[in-house]
Amino acid sequence: MNASESKMALMISPEEIQKRVSEMGQEISGKFAGKDPIFIGVLNGSFMFMADLLRAISIDCEMDFIKVRSYVGKKSSGTIRLIKDISAEVTDRHVVLVEDIIDSGHTIRFLMERIGSAAPKSISIATFLIKHEVAKIDFTIDFIGFEIPPEFVVGYGLDFNQKLRHLNGVYRLEGDLVK
Ligand code: IMP
Ligand code: MG
Repeated sequence: MNASESKMALMISPEEIQKRVSEMGQEISGKFAGKDPIFIGVLNGSFMFMADLLRAISIDCEMDFIKVRSYVGKKSSGTIRLIKDISAEVTDRHVVLVEDIIDSGHTIRFLMERIGSAAPKSISIATFLIKHEVAKIDFTIDFIGFEIPPEFVVGYGLDFNQKLRHLNGVYRLEGDLVK
C-alpha cells in the first residue's frame, strides 16, 4: 500500500501543524527557561514532531531518543517492548518525553515508569496528538498539540505498517485497510 492507493482524508493541514508546534515550542521554552531540559523523543513516530518542536525551542536544552514497540497494524498489542534505550544520563534532570500520539496510554505509562526509575528532577509529556476518548491515564499530559477523535491517523511521523510517515499533514485512514 502507498499514499496514492490508500483512502485518506486530511484531518490537520501542514499549516495548522506548523502554527501549533511553534506555539508549543514557545510554551515549553517559557516553562523550562534556565532548567536545561532534556527532550526524549519516542521513535519512530515522534521524529518529525521532535524535529519541528526542537526548532521552536529557544532555550538551552539537550535531546535523545528512545524506541519502543507496541503496535502491529492498527492495534496495540498491549505489551510494550524496549527496542533502544536512551544513552543520556537523566538522573536529576528535567525530562520532557516527546510522543507522536497517546492512544490507549500503555506506551506513555511504560515510559513514565522507565524514565521515572532513573530519578529525574521532573518528567513532563509533550504529545503531538491525543485520543482523549480512548486514553486511560491517571497522570497529567502537560503539552498537547491536538486532541483528535478515536480514529486511526497517519502522516507527520505516524505510520500504518511503517508506511506514510513522511506526509506533511495528518490524514484519517478510511475503511478497513488491514490485510
Ligand atoms: P498507546 O500505547 O495505545 O497509547 O499507543 C501509542 C503508540 O501507538 C503511538 O506512539 C503510536 O506509535 C501508535 N499509535 C496509536 N494510535 C495511532 C494512530 O492512529 N496512527 C498511528 N499510530 C498510532
Ligand atoms: Mg509511537
